[in-house]
Amino acid sequence: MRKSKLDQCQNIEDLRKAARRRAHKMVFDYIDGGADDEKTLAGNSSAFDKYSLLFRVLTGVDEVDTSITLLGQKMDQPFFCSPSAGNRLFHTEGERAVAKAAAAAGVVYCLSTLSSVSMEEIAALTTGPKWFQLYVWKDRGLVKEMLDRARAAGYRALILTVDLPIAGNRERDPRNGFTIPPHYGPRQTFEALKAPFWTLDYLTGAPIKYANLSADTPAVSLADFVAEQLHAGFNWRDAEWLLGEWNGPAVIKGVVRDDDARQAAALGFNAVMISNHGGRQLDHSPAPIDVLEEIVQAVGDKVEIILDGGVRRGTDILKALSLGATAVSFARPYLYGLAGGGEPGVKRALTIMAEAVRRDMALMGVRSLEEIDASFIRLIP
Ligand SMILES: Cc1cc2nc3c(=O)[nH]c(=O)nc-3n(C[C@H](O)[C@H](O)[C@H](O)COP(=O)(O)O)c2cc1C
Repeated sequence: MRKSKLDQCQNIEDLRKAARRRAHKMVFDYIDGGADDEKTLAGNSSAFDKYSLLFRVLTGVDEVDTSITLLGQKMDQPFFCSPSAGNRLFHTEGERAVAKAAAAAGVVYCLSTLSSVSMEEIAALTTGPKWFQLYVWKDRGLVKEMLDRARAAGYRALILTVDLPIAGNRERDPRNGFTIPPHYGPRQTFEALKAPFWTLDYLTGAPIKYANLSADTPAVSLADFVAEQLHAGFNWRDAEWLLGEWNGPAVIKGVVRDDDARQAAALGFNAVMISNHGGRQLDHSPAPIDVLEEIVQAVGDKVEIILDGGVRRGTDILKALSLGATAVSFARPYLYGLAGGGEPGVKRALTIMAEAVRRDMALMGVRSLEEIDASFIRLIP
């Protein structure tokens, strides 16, 4: 999509429409979809509507500072890019585009274990802060090797994703015959004709693979790949072993209960990412914003809290911060940008969010994010 067209995208929903127009149907659905009846997917965003923001007046907001400190690192924005697999499926620039846009926006970039560009290439691309997200392989040797490579490449923190012991039931994917790398039968070929820009990009780009693995994998569904390769038996004792192996800043991703958050804090994680994987795993799990307060009460004095899921507006971000989150993260907003228009699309997504945070802070009468507290938010009765 041309830059001028991207500039006409006023919000994340506009970028979602751009992604739907450009991408192959199976690819758009892989980004956009969730598990079962997609109740959690929808609820993650709609839950923000239950809260209103009590703005303060006459505070003098000619200057507004949107920066925060997260795991000891200053970020220009209170948000960052959650990890997401296989970005070259969405646009040939893939993870390169997202890493560059995140660095330009002054926010952390989290690379997925299942990225389609290698962790070493991404590390060398920008000087921006980077974290590495880990799925735990059945093969412990491979886990250790990935930790060593991530450390050597300069990834500052490890994100351990714990809400995917097995893959969730994402019904759009098998319906579309979606595999990674894509497999082309008659239906996929027919759909490819309806997405000429995506198809040209796909056909002329390098083959898509899980770039952190040395071996090529056959075209299988993500569910089969996860069942074959990832360690569903991984437990708290193994997590303790992993923290010892990593021996650096660590974040646990995919927690919605205060007892799990307490256990994670006691084990030595530095941050808890409240997340249900964007509604892609257990349907009917709670919206992150609805469990934020109880988790902040349980462990907010010991670890940093990141809210991940459903964030589409600046007000969503400021609601999460009002309830005690240190930062928020999101994936689909930048993935829609990527699928709709490559690096300029990701930049547009991050700009929309950054401008919204600044504008909404000023409208709330807040000059710095340290001023935000629970007095600014109310659950609508
Ligand atoms: C296409 C896609 C791929 C994802 N891949 C991963 C992944 O590889 N690792 C991971 O921990 N989470 C992954 N996630 C989950 C995101 O990190 C994040 O938790 C979720 O998308 C947040 O919800 P949001 O998309 O509403 O912001 C993925 C999400 C999407 C949409």
